[in-house]
Amino acid sequence: MIVVTGATGGLGGATVEHLLKRVPADRIGVSVRDTAKARHLADLGVRVRQGSYEDPASLRGSFAGAEQVLVVSGNDPAADIVALHRNAVEAAVAAGARRILYTSQHGAVPGNPYRPSEIHIATEAVLAASGTAWTALRNGAYGPLDQLLGPWQRTGVIAQPQDGPVPYTDRDDIAEATAALLAGERSLDGPVTLTARAAATFADLAETASALTGRTVQRVVVDDEQWAADQIASGVPEPMARLMLTWYQAARAGHFAEADPLLAELLGREPRSAADRLAAGLAA
Ligand SMILES: NC(=O)c1ccc[n+]([C@@H]2O[C@H](COP(=O)([O-])OP(=O)(O)OC[C@H]3O[C@@H](n4cnc5c(N)ncnc54)[C@H](OP(=O)(O)O)[C@@H]3O)[C@@H](O)[C@H]2O)c1
Repeated sequence: MIVVTGATGGLGGATVEHLLKRVPADRIGVSVRDTAKARHLADLGVRVRQGSYEDPASLRGSFAGAEQVLVVSGNDPAADIVALHRNAVEAAVAAGARRILYTSQHGAVPGNPYRPSEIHIATEAVLAASGTAWTALRNGAYGPLDQLLGPWQRTGVIAQPQDGPVPYTDRDDIAEATAALLAGERSLDGPVTLTARAAATFADLAETASALTGRTVQRVVVDDEQWAADQIASGVPEPMARLMLTWYQAARAGHFAEADPLLAELLGREPRSAADRLAAGLAA
């Protein structure tokens, strides 16, 4: 049994979709907070059980019989997320899992100012101490490009803080590679990095957008404090705006600069680049 957590979320859900193409549904289990949201998976023959990282007793049931568990990292800024991840790792070990996969983050090494890095570094340490084989998938930035670049299609301007090179990665590519690993197509130990093939800056993406649209798209660097104030004025809670600024600080210091060929190897094809995704977005 392969148990996937977060299967009612974006990455976990897409991973299950790809896994269903590789292994029989009765070998797949999902551990989800709300089983009603996973009815479509139950209909396909996937084992659906309730499990929440806050509730170790629930994880005993949802992880039962798991040979492998994919622990999708939590996202509640108010929670002690490392403690929640520890609950998940301990439950996977107690269930007898022979490998735990965990969704870590590209560049999650000491010194990276992007704050969630600390959570991933600490969780990788929990995995290393678990006594069970583990793989930390240090996933490249896969947020929607619209969100990242702002309303450039309307304004003709990518106006964001100073950035740096980042191999923007497609979430579905990461899901497909994760499914390949869970299905046993490759076995990798410890931290591995899954990113698109090449890093791009916002200036690069402005050039790409210009070429794709035939009009000039400009890159404008916005002062950090001005950007934070604009975010807050538009309704983003200040702690979230401040957290996102640490992402720009990390990017401009080069913490996300390295692209890794592993994702392409696992997919057996080129991962989608940011330019591919921009073009697809415009075509749609
Ligand atoms: N690399 C990147 O660029 C990037 C970007 C965004 C996020 N992330 C990280 O990667 C994770 C997965 O990304 P995503 O795009 O799939 O995000 P998502 O769509 O928000 O999914 C997060 C999943 O985690 C589940 N979850 C959250 N807290 C939990 C808890 N306490 N117990 C059990 N399950 C819990 C959620 O359950 P529900 O379905 O019940 O809400 C949801 O299914 C995020 O949570 C975040 O840590 C990475």
